[in-house]
Amino acid sequence: MAEEMVKFGLFGAGSIAIYRHAPEIASHPCAKIVAIYDPITARAEALAGQYGGEVLASEKALLARKDIDAIVVATPNAHHARLTIAALKAGKHVLCEKPMATSLEDAKKMIAAAKKAGKKLMIGHNQRLMPPHVKARQLIEAGVIGDVLTFRTSFGHGGPEMWSQDKGAHTWFFKKEEAFVGTMGDLGVHKADLIRWLLGSEVLEAGAFVDTLAKRNEKGQAISVDDNAVCILRLANGAMGQLTASWTYTNEDNITVIYGSKGQMTLGANPAFPVEVVLKNGEVAQYKVGGVSTNEAQLPSGIPDAFIDAILDDTEPAISGQEGLKALAIVLACLKSAETKQIVKVEY
Ligand SMILES: NC(=O)c1ccc[n+]([C@@H]2O[C@H](COP(=O)([O-])OP(=O)(O)OC[C@H]3O[C@@H](n4cnc5c(N)ncnc54)[C@H](O)[C@@H]3O)[C@@H](O)[C@H]2O)c1
Repeated sequence: MAEEMVKFGLFGAGSIAIYRHAPEIASHPCAKIVAIYDPITARAEALAGQYGGEVLASEKALLARKDIDAIVVATPNAHHARLTIAALKAGKHVLCEKPMATSLEDAKKMIAAAKKAGKKLMIGHNQRLMPPHVKARQLIEAGVIGDVLTFRTSFGHGGPEMWSQDKGAHTWFFKKEEAFVGTMGDLGVHKADLIRWLLGSEVLEAGAFVDTLAKRNEKGQAISVDDNAVCILRLANGAMGQLTASWTYTNEDNITVIYGSKGQMTLGANPAFPVEVVLKNGEVAQYKVGGVSTNEAQLPSGIPDAFIDAILDDTEPAISGQEGLKALAIVLACLKSAETKQIVKVEY
């Protein structure tokens, strides 16, 4: 199918589009960007100048373009479900950023809209495509560390106000009406997806403290979403562990440790060897696979490639709407636990 071209429209010309989606689509031999909409036109113009595509004046104009096969939704979280459903109804495949929606109901509507339209829906959970995580899953599946008993997985950095194109304390990431959730939706959702995928088991129960400890908005008030989350999870296979997400770390931390009956595995801690296995019998194995992408060192995500493959090969996307829903469900359970101060069953 190499002669086919997937023509893309982009909703959002912010950081994730700049660092990952646009360059990865533009460099794909079977894809190109034909249109971009961002309410801040200068951002769309800058992206179009670098990667091509026409700058459009409204959401409607992009949805109406007959020459667009696929749309990337890379906007603040509150617009994900609305724009995804509109794009699917307009007959486009959709790659939507995480968290896929702000409620399970909306996530289900997105999945139903894709089914009805007969179009692909993929969610941008790129953590599971990172080489150390791919390697780790193979090793876990092969039983190298035995039965997985416990884990800890962490994703933290200094905060999205340094990453977002809305740089500073006024960023949409800090506003509940645009973001719906803070660090737990920005970073925690990545690790929720990663852990259930790595261990091949669903998260059944969650307990969490999800709080705003330090971040202030442009008025000097505490932000209206969380800036730290410390969670405990129990999976269907009996494994239990911790998930932490933070916007107040000094150094970026994107590390996962999996403890099994035969040994343990550390992912993303040592840049020289992003996968390190230490077994109880004394054996040590270090794997030099590709790295874990950080805000400072952006590596290709592989997400657009996987989405384009699914369209061209007419296969289920590597990270389907249903997968996105499960990660969202874990986040929602953690939020509910923090609110009710109870251990909560994850509802899917
Ligand atoms: N997968 C990942 O690793 C990853 C990393 C960062 C961000 N994200 C996700 O990507 C999304 C965008 O985040 P970002 O970091 O690019 O933020 P950003 O603030 O840099 O950019 C967001 C852009 O969306 C634009 N926008 C707002 N409303 C819009 C609309 N209705 N239509 C079109 N554009 C609109 C804004 O003007 C802004 O330019 C978020 O959902 C975020 O969670 C994913």
